[in-house]
Amino acid sequence: MYSDKVMDHFQHPRNVGEIENASGTGTVGNAKCGDIMRIYLDIDENQIIRDVKFKTFGCGAAVATSSMATELVKGKSVQEAMQVTNKAVMEALDGLPPVKVHCSLLAEEAIHAALWDYAQKNNIQIEGLDKPKSDIGEGEEEEEY
Ligand code: FES
Repeated sequence: MYSDKVMDHFQHPRNVGEIENASGTGTVGNAKCGDIMRIYLDIDENQIIRDVKFKTFGCGAAVATSSMATELVKGKSVQEAMQVTNKAVMEALDGLPPVKVHCSLLAEEAIHAALWDYAQKNNIQIEGLDKPKSDIGEGEEEEEY
């Protein structure tokens, strides 16, 4: 049912962890399955993603897609990272079963949410990036705090 690459990234996920004082973090959840993914980006002054880490509380496909997505954005510019869609991640993993496609969306959304957080903090605009709908981050800047 799963490709060798999916199994590999599931069993040996790359870039697991967190980044302290990250340039941007994004947390998204899937309301249907309840799985949650958080992405941390460390972005340098040239807008290059120096480092990226993730934490996923979710299914195997979510772990594998987050792992692959982090590999794909590492070392890229923020603009290039925008090209890392769930389709690109799935292709890099040699496909996912149809019922697992939503899991790969979580990775794309988490990256976008982290990029949005970075853009907000630095007062910049990233072309093609819209405010994430489902960011459920801790919301340090939210009013209730
Ligand atoms: Fe929820 Fe895969 S089943 S992310």
